[in-house]
Amino acid sequence: MRRIVRMLAYGLLTLVVLAAGVLGIAWWRTEVALARVYTLAEVELPVSGDPAQVERGRHLAVTRGCTDCHGDDLAGRVVIDAGPVGLYVAANLTPAGAGAGMDANLFEHAVRHGVGRDGRPLRFMPATDFAAMGDDDVAALYAYVKSVPPATRELPETWIGPLGRVLYLFDQVPVLLTAESVDHAAASAPRVAPVVAATADYGRYLAQGCTGCHGERFAGGRIPGAPPDLPIAANLTPDPSGLGAWSEADFMRAIRDGKRPDGSAIDPFMPWKSLGHMTDTELRALYAYLRSLPPLPRG
Ligand code: HEC
Ligand code: HEC
Repeated sequence: MRRIVRMLAYGLLTLVVLAAGVLGIAWWRTEVALARVYTLAEVELPVSGDPAQVERGRHLAVTRGCTDCHGDDLAGRVVIDAGPVGLYVAANLTPAGAGAGMDANLFEHAVRHGVGRDGRPLRFMPATDFAAMGDDDVAALYAYVKSVPPATRELPETWIGPLGRVLYLFDQVPVLLTAESVDHAAASAPRVAPVVAATADYGRYLAQGCTGCHGERFAGGRIPGAPPDLPIAANLTPDPSGLGAWSEADFMRAIRDGKRPDGSAIDPFMPWKSLGHMTDTELRALYAYLRSLPPLPRG
């Protein structure tokens, strides 16, 4: 009997020591990654700040997800409060917050590279969705961000929890430090977006922003690093398990009204409310691109 108790105690002790070891390694790995300094090229962005450019930037900020995370007034917001995984807070981009003293280059570093003004990686800023954005669009976004009035809100500090660090150690939260996944040389190269038209080519450009949740191949599945209570991303390829039977009108209705062809509601975690502000041309381009993909089973 005593022997069994002693064996159990040793077993438990070993487990505790192992868990502490994994946590220690995870802690050290995240601290090293957070301290890394990225040296990025200077880029020339065509910023004019004229009303048409500011309006284009406003449209992009709403339809590309910036306001979903940074708030309608861009004054910042808690994006995810996931207990031991962490607390992720999008920065205040107005002149009362991070917008103060931010030049076009620093802005470009954040948006296309996921790198902050000190050269260190931003946390939970999905730059991989924006790395291929054209210079005109980055410039328009910058012009818009510069035009918004100062606003402030009480915001907690971002905190990477112990579970978040362990998940990071096992590559389970790609969105934590997107600077690690971006090809920085390619993202800095002068880049012209395709012509705005209802073409699969323009749709491919727009669909970059869907990959963070629907995956690189648009087949959907569990969103990496997402808490288990979040819905599973849908398959957007033309497979029967995806959008195979969807007409263009079905697709437009899904994004504009959050309703599938059978009338069921799409979970608001899918940002259809903001994507619904896309123009008909943009939505038709997305549909044309998604139709051109190889059909894949879900996940
Ligand atoms: C999934 C949520 C999310 C989306 C979408 C998003 N951001 Fe962010 N962004 C963040 C978070 C979180 C931070 C803060 C990072 C940190 O504190 O390390 C941030 C930081 C930034 C910063 C750096 C601020 C600073 O402190 O220097 C800029 C600039 C920025 N975002 C612009 C944008 C723009 C423009 C868009 C749309 C094209 C966008 N973001 C979309 C979450 C998001
Ligand atoms: C923040 C994550 C996220 C982003 C970004 C996102 N989606 Fe989704 N999407 C989801 C989730 C999760 C679902 C499943 C919702 C549900 O089960 O109700 C979904 C569902 C859908 C559906 C409904 C399909 C079906 O069969 O239920 C369509 C269509 C869709 N997304 C298109 C897009 C397109 C196009 C983009 C990019 C322009 C995009 N999504 C960007 C998370 C996202």
